Amino acid sequence: MPNHAPHFRRALLAWYRREGRDLPWRHTRDPYAILVSEIMLQQTQVATVLSYYREWLRRFPDFQTLARSDESDVLHAWQGLGYYTRGRNLHAAAKIVVARLDGLFPRDIGEMRELPGIGRYTAHAVATFSFDRPVAVVEANIARVLARISNLQLPIDSAPGLDFVWNLATALVSPRRAHDYNSALMDLGALICTPRRPKCDRCPVRSFCQATDPDSLPRKKARPAIKTLVERHFFAVRRNLVLLEQSAERWRGLWILPRISQSPNAARPIYRAEFPFTNHRITLEVYRQPPGRVAATPGRRWFPLDSLGKLALPSPHRRALTALATLSPRKLGSTLAPT
Ligand code: ADE
Repeated sequence: MPNHAPHFRRALLAWYRREGRDLPWRHTRDPYAILVSEIMLQQTQVATVLSYYREWLRRFPDFQTLARSDESDVLHAWQGLGYYTRGRNLHAAAKIVVARLDGLFPRDIGEMRELPGIGRYTAHAVATFSFDRPVAVVEANIARVLARISNLQLPIDSAPGLDFVWNLATALVSPRRAHDYNSALMDLGALICTPRRPKCDRCPVRSFCQATDPDSLPRKKARPAIKTLVERHFFAVRRNLVLLEQSAERWRGLWILPRISQSPNAARPIYRAEFPFTNHRITLEVYRQPPGRVAATPGRRWFPLDSLGKLALPSPHRRALTALATLSPRKLGSTLAPT
């Protein structure tokens, strides 16, 4: 297939000119804006990223503004995107760019990869989308397209499968139009070569495709079984104040409902919801805690209920607080456990 690369690229680029997506980060070459978009897009869908990306650039328009912002503001802006390490790394990278690199993002891929949170994919994405460098990028869409085109039977999430796909991507990349070519390959995956029921009848590179059963590709390693976990927290209100705790673990730096260390005996939860987290399915249970018995120990603080919009809270806890804050005091009282 690399022999046919020029034909493949021409067919793909012609399709992209007609059908490619108009995405805001395709209207800029600013490495800062491209980096923000790529880090957001790593674990979040385009539709969700669109509004975050605009708001982020409004609040933190460049490396300098981001570098001098407080972590709490950065986490607040990231709130809802999940995987907060990404936001923290972006903040740390901005500080390094400003303090050590005169505010200029490196053009060298090796130097980019020394920055926190920037691996091969992100460095190549900035290199191609900002600097039009002819390097391969392989995210989930492109990996799927290339696995199908080559009828790859290796698991796409195994080291040999990934090596194969990166090598093929490198062999195919357009030497002169890398920016459009890589965008086109992503769009082909997002619009035509979709995870389920790919639209092969509309595919511009169908004649290059060796997949015999595209729906079955890419193959993946057996997933670890989903584990279930129950996490118990409490809701303490005093007049219009609610007690929150700054998480030191999974959501480090974000505010959550305080954890319950002892089993809540016979009490019934006043709120229960499930949410996924990596390979876990977590049940969040919230119990009522009479306010007299709790104190604002280090790491815990009382906040006015109407100030929660300004705090960084993980989505499952924000949903719980929103639901609980609208419960009437009588209803909250009636759920008290018998003592
Ligand atoms: N996924 C990762 N990077 C992307 C990009 N630049 N455009 C669309 N989807 C993407």
